[in-house]
Amino acid sequence: TRVYVSRDSAATSVGANEVADALVLAAAAAGVDLHVVRTGTRGMLWLEPLVEVETPAGRVGYGPVSPADVDGLVAAGMLDGVLDGAGGHTTARDHPSYLGLVEDLPWMRDQQRICLARVGVTDPVSTTDYEAHGGLAGLRHALSLDPQQVVAEVTDSGLRGRGGAGFPAGIKWKTVADTPGELKFVCCNADEGDSGTFADRMVMEGDPFALLEGMTIAGYAVGASEGYIYLRSEYPDAAHALKEAIDAARAAGWLGADVLGSGYTFDIHLRIGAGAYICGEETSMLESLEGKRGMVRAKPPIPAITGLFGKPTVVNNVLTLVSVPTILAEGGTKYAELGVDRSRGTQVFQLAGNIARGGAFETAFGISLEKLVHEYGGGTRTGRPLRAVQVGGPLGQYIPADKLDIPTDYEAFAAADAMLGHGGITVFDDTVDMAHMARFAMEFCAEESCGKCTPCRVGSIRGVETIDKIVGGVDPDGNLALLNDLCELMTDGSLCAMGGLTPNPVRSALLHFPEDFTPGVHDRK
Ligand code: NAI
Ligand code: SF4
Repeated sequence: TRVYVSRDSAATSVGANEVADALVLAAAAAGVDLHVVRTGTRGMLWLEPLVEVETPAGRVGYGPVSPADVDGLVAAGMLDGVLDGAGGHTTARDHPSYLGLVEDLPWMRDQQRICLARVGVTDPVSTTDYEAHGGLAGLRHALSLDPQQVVAEVTDSGLRGRGGAGFPAGIKWKTVADTPGELKFVCCNADEGDSGTFADRMVMEGDPFALLEGMTIAGYAVGASEGYIYLRSEYPDAAHALKEAIDAARAAGWLGADVLGSGYTFDIHLRIGAGAYICGEETSMLESLEGKRGMVRAKPPIPAITGLFGKPTVVNNVLTLVSVPTILAEGGTKYAELGVDRSRGTQVFQLAGNIARGGAFETAFGISLEKLVHEYGGGTRTGRPLRAVQVGGPLGQYIPADKLDIPTDYEAFAAADAMLGHGGITVFDDTVDMAHMARFAMEFCAEESCGKCTPCRVGSIRGVETIDKIVGGVDPDGNLALLNDLCELMTDGSLCAMGGLTPNPVRSALLHFPEDFTPGVHDRK
């Protein structure tokens, strides 16, 4: 019998390794010939550790399973490999963790999984599994085209940068391709520093080959010979998976010299950051990759023209690059059929914070925030009324509970004075103190500022002090006016998005939750 248990760090943090070990022991005791495949996670994190058993009808899920459940499940027939007890077998369908066919669960059935197509399905580091599930079709097709045609496919797809800014990937690639240079680079920004986001990690742990394939296609399209993945140090399991995948891809002949016998040479190196949020800003990341302290560079020049070591460089987020193989395999226009207006294709939404069903949900742009949070996320985990949702990481605006009816579309969010960013959605219930959250934004900025420009370096510290004065009852009106002034200055005068976006959470908290800034409203001890 073949069973699947995730090796993703979200699953192992709640005991997936222990469950896998218990399954092996229980199968041996029961005399069952068991093969455990360790996959990525399906993204239904509230069901981890999830165990999937292969049956002729598909994979049947049990979750969450604890090691203590395993003996009982095996005794009840979990490993018989049948769905409904047909053929005289008993199954474990009466067990409370029994879920039925995993692909039929509403969370799975309602998604359009492109970036996550293989995550949770395949062995992340098996090249055979990868190719058997559609891997390399995009790269093979790309190599049969001229580089300009590859850029054109990406432009036609409407793919926009998934790191948060949403800049059209095809235009960026064209800028690099059109810039003359003997040496060019493709850098993957895998620093994923936003709180409440984990899609990059999930893909790197669950389907690292897809990133390598996307980077290789980008390299071919722009004429680059080397790629770098800049990975945050907090992701050791992703580092492990990527190293295994790079070695396997080199051994299989589709990374390194003469990619798939095409004559094109492209290799990928992994670099680990040292834990600074600002190194997720692209120019800081390039400084860090060059071995320097992560400080922001002034733009222009943009990295597409003067990037790593001063050479033309594609800098893309993990999910941008992971979307590319499908675009090349199926065509840019097919990809562009998904989504709304100028937001084409799919986004991997990450439901986090105080939410009943947290996890990753990939679907075409356009689904409403309301639907994601309430229908799929199931509202708050505490069961208390939902008060606010923050989208786009710690620098995103707070959206009040009665204003969630916004389609997930970059422009619709901007029109609603919000930011879609990297697709992270963090939920808060009615116990949240929004003045405290506004203070946290300023504090976070003070902590993470690279220090290059004054509005951010000094403004964030003054911001913390001013909020403390407001909630402490020290000249609240005067200090509120000062805080608004400070926010304006930081927005207009900061060199990069760190200082420039920090006022977002602060202003939205002031706008939607002014009552929280009244002294003594919450116990702030
Ligand atoms: P940006 O708008 O300055 O640039 C976006 C990208 O387009 C950059 O790669 C830039 O080099 C490129 N670009 C701009 N003009 C170009 C041109 N004419 N030709 C070719 N390329 C061009 O935005 P920035 O500062 O890079 O990113 C800000 C965003 O980062 C925010 O909106 C936020 O959502 C996001 N963010 C994401 C985080 C994460 O963990 N994923 C963390 C913090 C912020
Ligand atoms: Fe550095 Fe902040 Fe200025 Fe960005 S805004 S360059 S992080 S000081």
